[in-house]
Amino acid sequence: MKPLSERIKRISPSRTVQLTGVIENLRRQGRHIINLGIGEPDESPPQAVVSRTVHALKGGQTRYGPVSGARALREAIAHKFNGYTAQNILVTNGSKQALYTALQVVCNPGDQVIIPRPCWVSFCEQIKLAGAVPVLVDTKAHQLNFEAIESAVNTRTKMIIINSPNNPTGAVYPGDVLGKIADLAIKNDLYLISDEAYEAFVYDGWTYNSLFDFPHVRDRLVVAGSFSKIHRMTGFRIGYAAAPEEIITAMARLQSHLTGNVCTFVQQGALAAAGIDPSEFDRWRNELQKKRDMTLEILGDLPCHIPRGAFYVFPDVTGFLKDGESAEALATDILQRAGVAVAPGEAFGGEGHIRICYALAENELVRGLEKVVHVIKQRTGEKAT
Ligand SMILES: Cc1ncc(COP(=O)(O)O)c(C=O)c1O
Repeated sequence: MKPLSERIKRISPSRTVQLTGVIENLRRQGRHIINLGIGEPDESPPQAVVSRTVHALKGGQTRYGPVSGARALREAIAHKFNGYTAQNILVTNGSKQALYTALQVVCNPGDQVIIPRPCWVSFCEQIKLAGAVPVLVDTKAHQLNFEAIESAVNTRTKMIIINSPNNPTGAVYPGDVLGKIADLAIKNDLYLISDEAYEAFVYDGWTYNSLFDFPHVRDRLVVAGSFSKIHRMTGFRIGYAAAPEEIITAMARLQSHLTGNVCTFVQQGALAAAGIDPSEFDRWRNELQKKRDMTLEILGDLPCHIPRGAFYVFPDVTGFLKDGESAEALATDILQRAGVAVAPGEAFGGEGHIRICYALAENELVRGLEKVVHVIKQRTGEKAT
């Protein structure tokens, strides 16, 4: 038989999605697994979202809808973006699809796309699927290294992807650095993607800055937004792109052949979510900040930059690895010995680190973290003997 396409051969599976499969298998075998490896809040979606979704489903909103999304939802999302209307919004199957589609419409084969590293698992593979080339630029203490990004720009560079608050590091980028990135994009005629999946999760009184705050860059900027994390709607699969009309129209053209509209009744749930007053998130944000602090305290000796956003910590575990061992091997060991899943840093281009999600019920989180620390101490003892 003729082989599958060269395109798919170049793509690795998502390692965080793979981890979910491993955990499900272990659970099927009867093992209790505490999952600190998944990027998902463990609370249910807001009641208003569930009610509106069910109401729409029961009311028969089950047919095809407009490819770009229900007008009311596009208008509600556009309200967040000064000067934008429904024409600037595309409703997508998660922000994952918004990112994929944006890359498909902007990039030509051979174009280069700069991503600060460590980075979310799908960026590189989505860039490759567009025929383009990912160019990974290391961050400095998890913050953007502007000089390194500037030096990576050349005539083949087409785009820079910025993700703040960041997955996996939890880093939040200050406005002045984002301003420099905006100017760099203009100077070199580059497109920008701002992945804002975690925009509501910023702690310690830090403010959230978006590339959208810089009006001069908006004609080359795609914002990818998500209902998954902020509204706890991961399984609903709904997100959006906000961009200049020309880009949104091109993205909608692709989406019309790919998936068509996002599930009609889910869009009604998202409309309810869009109507929730942002102050409603204060309680949850405060709880998450407390859990972050608790996590850092329990992890104690593991070196870790304080994450100011998202719901991850990304400690450096190199000092706890055996000779030649990877963080992935450590993560597997923790899973096998203690029944706790953590994501290996390699999945994010962050060798020697593990990613821990703390958006879990407090007792489960504390138990999981204590087990992680216990295994690491046990291993240190084994190393010494
Ligand atoms: C940085 C980042 N971007 C995008 C996504 C995709 O989210 P969704 O497709 O659920 O909106 C994720 C999910 O983990 C993420 O962490």
